[in-house]
Amino acid sequence: MTVLRLLALAAAVSALEQHLEEDNECASEQCALEALQRRAARQRQIPGFDAGVGELPSEDDIMNTVPDHEEADEDDEAEEHEDEASDADEQDQHAEEPNTPHDGPTMAPLPSRPPLPRPETVRTVNPIIVRGNFLYDSVTGDRFFAKGVAYNPRNEKYDHSFGPSVVVDGWVDKCVPGHPVGGEWTYTEDVISDKHEKMWSVDLQAIADMGANTVRLYNVDPQNSHKKFMEKAHSLGLYVIVPLNGKDWGFLPAFPSPDCYTQEIDGYGNVGVNALSFAKQIVKEFSQYNNTLLLTVANELAQNDKNGWAAFPCVKALTRDVHRYQASCGSTMRRVPLIYSDVDMGAGDRGQVAAYLTCAMDSEDDAVDVYGLNVYSWCDEKYPGAGKEDNFQYSPYYEIKKDFKDTSVPFLFTEFGCNLGQFATKCPYPDGRQWPEVKHLMGHDMGEMMSGAIAFQWSMDKEEYGLTLSPNFLQGQPELYLLDNYYNLKKALGLRSKR
Ligand SMILES: *[C@@H]1O[C@H](CO)[C@@H](O)[C@H](O)[C@H]1NC(C)=O
Repeated sequence: MTVLRLLALAAAVSALEQHLEEDNECASEQCALEALQRRAARQRQIPGFDAGVGELPSEDDIMNTVPDHEEADEDDEAEEHEDEASDADEQDQHAEEPNTPHDGPTMAPLPSRPPLPRPETVRTVNPIIVRGNFLYDSVTGDRFFAKGVAYNPRNEKYDHSFGPSVVVDGWVDKCVPGHPVGGEWTYTEDVISDKHEKMWSVDLQAIADMGANTVRLYNVDPQNSHKKFMEKAHSLGLYVIVPLNGKDWGFLPAFPSPDCYTQEIDGYGNVGVNALSFAKQIVKEFSQYNNTLLLTVANELAQNDKNGWAAFPCVKALTRDVHRYQASCGSTMRRVPLIYSDVDMGAGDRGQVAAYLTCAMDSEDDAVDVYGLNVYSWCDEKYPGAGKEDNFQYSPYYEIKKDFKDTSVPFLFTEFGCNLGQFATKCPYPDGRQWPEVKHLMGHDMGEMMSGAIAFQWSMDKEEYGLTLSPNFLQGQPELYLLDNYYNLKKALGLRSKR
């Protein structure tokens, strides 16, 4: 940590201060920073907000940033967790319980699955580039659409308190937690490091076999090598979206600008310097791989922004400084595009933030190259309207299309997949999402404005979005288990790729 902090001293704080002073001079109508700041000032609740170490994002804050609609349910709605041993009307029990050495409750086996897939490997993966508002394969010239999955397995075991916001009528909890190897990792565990190879190599194979071509990551420690992971992903034809922020160190705090990039914190140092230093190490490592698709300069910053939108100028500042770092490395470094991923804050606002972050304000450098939105609003199988049984114009994506159709850079859903309403599923997670939105994202309704969609998320955890159960999530489930959710998504992706 100390060494890293020392290494960081070269960074661009003075340029930043100048930049922030000049913010207001932006002439472009698109760059509505003043409007953003007025809004932020209106929303500023805490006068003289003073950022001390106490304001650092706690792990809980961070956990709460993804996804947005979890917040409301902090206080467990006291679900009735009937004793898991009660098998009053077990619908689907086709086998005897395996004998277990301990006396605890046992659960019915999960429906059986074919052996885990081992898809064919590929030799070359070409870098993807941005041209106008699309992504292209730099060698073949084909348009690139990222079909992806959010990958952040925590090695959790089942807990009866999981998914308080996910309600399924008549559900009785008969699941029994398993015993994952090593127990639960912290949120910051670098799950793609070499020491987790056994886990991620199985996962990557199943991700590729699902028909995905992209994996989005959330926690990467620049002190570890990720060569093995990147090469394995490459061999399966998978691109990777890599975060440039850390959580304990190297984070971009949601303090009001300019503090989010200039604040000195006792015992920590300068947040901007540390954020840039962290980001540069990630950029340096991952730019060498053809299959690094995008680098995420920040994710859902507004979620932690207690002062409204006051921290967005610091996303621009970090974007600018990373771009300048890339440029300073010249031809020795591929310029991997930078993306910001926003929480979907609804019509109007989400478009304004995108316009601000994608516009060149002081220079081209401060504009993100690609824009992402994390979207959980498609919660019904069909949206009927105007005499049609299924009418895209009545769906929540239609409004998103209106807000983003003129975005000047490639646009992705960097997370998507509602698990509420018709798609709600509870342990052991039968059925779940059918992914009807995928055909719209990749078809004629939105395909011409979208460059990718990343399903949230690979492994099951307390938010209950998982496509899979990681090994020993449940009792008697020793290996990765692919849920109906996974097979449904595979089908939805396959329908489109056969066009
Ligand atoms: C990386 O991309 C280049 C094209 O820019 C290609 O020539 C090369 O073969 C690729 N490398 C690998 C290992 O796929």
